[in-house]
Amino acid sequence: MEVTTENDQVIVFDEFLSAEAFRFVWNFVLEARFRYVNNDQWIKAFRLMDGAALWSDVFTSKPMPSDRTAMSQSYPTGKGIDCFIEALAETAKGYPEFVGEEGPDWELFFVRPYLYPTGAGLSWHTDGRQDVSCAFVYYAHPEWNASWGAELLVDGSDFRDLTYPELEMYDGERRAPGLHMDHEITSRAVMNFGVGTYVMPKPNRLALIRRGVLHRINPVGAAAGDHVRSSLTGFFMSND
Ligand SMILES: [Fe+2]
Repeated sequence: MEVTTENDQVIVFDEFLSAEAFRFVWNFVLEARFRYVNNDQWIKAFRLMDGAALWSDVFTSKPMPSDRTAMSQSYPTGKGIDCFIEALAETAKGYPEFVGEEGPDWELFFVRPYLYPTGAGLSWHTDGRQDVSCAFVYYAHPEWNASWGAELLVDGSDFRDLTYPELEMYDGERRAPGLHMDHEITSRAVMNFGVGTYVMPKPNRLALIRRGVLHRINPVGAAAGDHVRSSLTGFFMSND
């Protein structure tokens, strides 16, 4: 493993896993069951123009509280994804300033395999939940070409606090329904500085994204054909 680049927004590691572990993770992805993210309902983290990504089940580094366990498996799972969970847990220890400190800042991380086929991407956003201390993405596909798209774009400004506007509801409560259909504040936040870092989805690469940083996944281009962007993505988070 080597650190390829490190700035205030993102840290990129290459050859993150050993060749053997990388193979086990890819074989795990090949065997995993996927469904379209919007299969049952619109997952509003994805905009309507973001194409049709797929996801698999949630895996956690340790058991989660009962209300969240319904769809998740915790480490050790006996599957190839354990290789990734072990490596990420080890790496996190070396970057407490960036990832947060285990205990006070986060108690576990969860990992979810995704597939982005041609046309799929993810619009500008922050991983804005209060209980998230750091986000990550790992590229599990065995091959990528510079013309296939799916670059991770990371805003280079020091902006960290995109807050979802709270709206008045008929029941008297104020709630934040999200930015999926009105994302003007996201655009303003990105356009304010408008310069940053791109990260190519190189096989066996891990990127850590600092809490609150704006980022985007460019759509997988037509030139990718039936090659899919295969990622393991998730968050370090507190357990409440
Ligand atoms: Fe994200």
